[in-house]
Amino acid sequence: MSGVQDKVQQHYDQVAEIYDSRYNHKRGRSYHAHISRHVMSCLPEGGMLLDLGCGTGLFVHRYSSQGGNAVGLDFSRGMIFRARDRNRDSDFGIGNAEILPFRDKAFDAVASLLAFSYLKNPEQMLAEAWRVLKPGGTLAICTLGRNLLTSGLPAVYTLGEVMRIRRVGMGAFGERYYAPDEMTGLFEMTGFREVTARRCSFAHLNLVDPLYSLARRIEPFVEEKIPSLAYNLLVSGRKPDH
Ligand SMILES: C[S@@+](CC[C@H](N)C(=O)[O-])C[C@H]1O[C@@H](n2cnc3c(N)ncnc32)[C@H](O)[C@@H]1O
Repeated sequence: MSGVQDKVQQHYDQVAEIYDSRYNHKRGRSYHAHISRHVMSCLPEGGMLLDLGCGTGLFVHRYSSQGGNAVGLDFSRGMIFRARDRNRDSDFGIGNAEILPFRDKAFDAVASLLAFSYLKNPEQMLAEAWRVLKPGGTLAICTLGRNLLTSGLPAVYTLGEVMRIRRVGMGAFGERYYAPDEMTGLFEMTGFREVTARRCSFAHLNLVDPLYSLARRIEPFVEEKIPSLAYNLLVSGRKPDH
């Protein structure tokens, strides 16, 4: 792994114990549920799913509780420890999402939430997802999009690191934020078809009240009518049958 990847892995090992207090509690919980619903809407019901950068297994839990089977992979041992604890009936592996330890055509679907921005070789991850998908299988990725809201994040994260603020995602990791056509291009270059990219999630966890409550209320309207204001990108594609 590269030095930056080691740094991301160490960061998530260090924040594993506080991760769920950000993403599975109050606002964080509704935010994660919201993007999970978007991702879920792209996936086949049931079947065998691989979740890349699965973290503490929040999405694996959702997918399994809706009748599917899921396997999670993450390079942070600390995150995987918690994922296993949450999902006793699912399998988890510790490893890099860019080099998958699975056989060809093993999964009906591959998903990844909030992890793609960290990848050093996104093309390689996509090629690996393609390899492990069965023909007709679906890949769905939710990642931070490139827009006004995210353009300031690297500076904030770098400052947070200098000030030694201990918070999930706080650090200079050289994250990459993508425009919809960039993601569509990457998917299509890998061979995926029926590729769609749309923006989702407008209510940002860090907004102060009452702005947050207002943002939650108008979120459905923004996502439908002015998606450029939403800060995550949801991209999905299908591996052709032949
Ligand atoms: C913001 S967390 C998201 C976790 C989870 N997907 C969720 O929705 O709660 C990002 C996760 O991606 C993992 N990650 C980042 N780059 C990775 C890579 N190259 N291979 C495996 N895991 C990676 C981190 O260890 C971390 O657990």
